[in-house]
Amino acid sequence: MLTITICVGSSCYLRGSDELASALEGFIEKEALQEELALAGSFCMGECSTGISIKVGERQYREIRPGDAEPFFYGEILPRVREREAGCRRTG
Ligand code: FES
Repeated sequence: MLTITICVGSSCYLRGSDELASALEGFIEKEALQEELALAGSFCMGECSTGISIKVGERQYREIRPGDAEPFFYGEILPRVREREAGCRRTG
């Protein structure tokens, strides 16, 4: 299970972190990845000036906007899921 953690602190919230979370949740459902991806909220990640803060696993991203949800999901998150699946098949 890979966890996507989205900052819901006041600065990120004002930039649309809830909208971003909803969009990502929609892509998770669309791709039927509920068993592989979890969404979580976080208090301030200490990067308020750089746009919405988000972590995928332990990797932190900054300057993500709600309008970036689709390219971010398909360009960053989905490849990470596929990598993990491939790793499990190799080791399992
Ligand atoms: S409010 Fe999100 S990083 Fe500070």
